[in-house]
Amino acid sequence: MIVLGIETSCDETAAAIVTDAREIRADVVLSQIADHTPYGGVVPEVAARAHLEHLDGLIRRALDEAGIGLGDLDAVAATGGPGLIGGVIVGVMTAKAIAAARKLPFVAVNHLEGHALTARLTDDVAFPYLLLLVSGGHCQLLVVEGPGAYRRLGTTIDDAVGEAFDKTAKLIGLGYPGGPQVETAAAEATDPGRFTLPRPMLGRPGCDFSFSGLKAAVRRAVEELPKPLTPEDRADLAAAFQHAVADVMVDRCKRAIRTFKAAHPQGGALVVAGGVAANKALRARLAGLAEKEGMPFVAPPLRLCTDNAAMIAWAGIERLRLGQTDGLDFAPRPRWPLDPTAKPAIGRPDVGAGVKA
Ligand code: KG4
Ligand code: ZN
Repeated sequence: MIVLGIETSCDETAAAIVTDAREIRADVVLSQIADHTPYGGVVPEVAARAHLEHLDGLIRRALDEAGIGLGDLDAVAATGGPGLIGGVIVGVMTAKAIAAARKLPFVAVNHLEGHALTARLTDDVAFPYLLLLVSGGHCQLLVVEGPGAYRRLGTTIDDAVGEAFDKTAKLIGLGYPGGPQVETAAAEATDPGRFTLPRPMLGRPGCDFSFSGLKAAVRRAVEELPKPLTPEDRADLAAAFQHAVADVMVDRCKRAIRTFKAAHPQGGALVVAGGVAANKALRARLAGLAEKEGMPFVAPPLRLCTDNAAMIAWAGIERLRLGQTDGLDFAPRPRWPLDPTAKPAIGRPDVGAGVKA
């Protein structure tokens, strides 16, 4: 089975060709960073226009790299949500057009499921597994029982962790997108113990996360420093922030592992996915935790952690194997929780299974 995957839910336009033999035949990603940098963040209208402008060419490139034509495809999968709706519409409409013209099955993929199932594409991980999904819009712990079968153990009650990285980068004067720049700065810290930042939710019951207090503490630390900040200030603050995040992640994962093991005594892997999973310091801490807990640890290669279309094609393949496809009347979804039955996070009855879910 050869499937075309399309991803347009945020600021990366991407197309990929993947087979059901777990072979990535092409994987092209066009980052829109330069388009959004002047604004210090992603502007939805700018993103949607850029997707529209580039998607056709990227699909052509992916087909050429794979050495195939549209006639060789068995199906088309596109991110159907959640995400910035203008971009999602561009991807879904393009996929539907190809599916209609070529009489191919169409699969609307949940972007989060793309991240969640990446470890099966790269490492053939067996169900069930415990997933830490950490991206720009999400921060969740989930038990993955199968495609479409997710049980959420915890989520953020305010900011997503990637958002916290991006905002911290802005506060300390690093560019956008912040995650990779915070990581680079942190590696250059000369006095990583210079700033003491809080560890929100550490030791609390449940598996929920919170990052707004951490962000506020970074802001206060910046306010107290003489301006302009020196490169040393930036590096030490970045290191302190990254360390606090890692401490919280390890604490929350430890609790989730207890719940996971109680429900699945036969075991399973700890898997990390999403853009923040590209962070090497965080990966190392999680790998250490998994080892201590006697669980295999799986983190996809860096380029498959951040947004890409190979993960969308793969999630499409998993759905197609179960005989699941979508009609051409599928409506793009700005929100699409993986676990629709999940209760609201503690302290945020207004969030529930919607925003950040
Ligand atoms: O999964 P992703 O590419 O897009 C979303 O679906 O959100 O994640 C993007 C997020 C951004 O917030 C970015 O700053 C963060 O992932 N990120 C990182 C790193 N690389 C990307 N955060 C920390 N360390 C990194 N190396
Ligand atoms: Zn993503």
